Amino acid sequence: MRLVVTGTPGTGKTTIASRLAEMLNLRYVNLNRELVKSGACRYNPEIFSYEVIDVEHAEKLVREILLENDNSVFDTLLVELVDPSLIDWVIVLRLNPYILYRRLREERGWRGRKLCENVLAEILDYSLVKAIESVGEDKVIEVDTTGKSVEEVIREILEKMSSCSPSHGVVDWLSVVDPEFLLKLDLCREGEDEL
Ligand SMILES: Nc1ncnc2c1ncn2[C@@H]1O[C@H](COP(=O)(O)OP(=O)(O)O)[C@@H](O)[C@H]1O
Ligand SMILES: [Mg+2]
Repeated sequence: MRLVVTGTPGTGKTTIASRLAEMLNLRYVNLNRELVKSGACRYNPEIFSYEVIDVEHAEKLVREILLENDNSVFDTLLVELVDPSLIDWVIVLRLNPYILYRRLREERGWRGRKLCENVLAEILDYSLVKAIESVGEDKVIEVDTTGKSVEEVIREILEKMSSCSPSHGVVDWLSVVDPEFLLKLDLCREGEDEL
């Protein structure tokens, strides 16, 4: 079995992917790290995200890594590089944008554009859209982690996998966030620092 765990930074990918691997007796693979190590991708501080330097090389490498690791959970932001025929599920973790904002600011010390662009990406379903575009909605399990313990999130993922229930559209952050918060995030993205 091959599972991919994706989501905006801070939503819990590493925590959930490692725990899921432990519970299912699978190997945990940090795909971003492998891609950076190979030189196919790099962290671009300008866009506060990973950038694929050579798409062909990166896709080939991901294919090799996936083929080499039959029973694994892959932790990644780069779901677009994954061949859908090689994976069983893509799990997209979601988190209430206000909580994500606090987590990134207080735990990771993120500020300014880096903080705001990632919170906006969460509000605008960036990871979910990318996952569906890459592997199709039948292989996507979207989970709202807000207010849930790690164990509760894991239980929900296992239930959806065992009943073969793909899911998407489980959150609607645009209806949750205050327009003022959105405006501030947008301003801060443009360089007007500090919320
Ligand atoms: N379900 C959860 N409930 C509470 N805290 C969580 C949960 N999942 C992750 N966390 C915490 O959130 C922080 C970010 O998690 P992490 O797994 O590093 O996210 P990511 O890999 O997506 O950037 C960590 O401090 C982690 O302990
Ligand atoms: Mg991580």
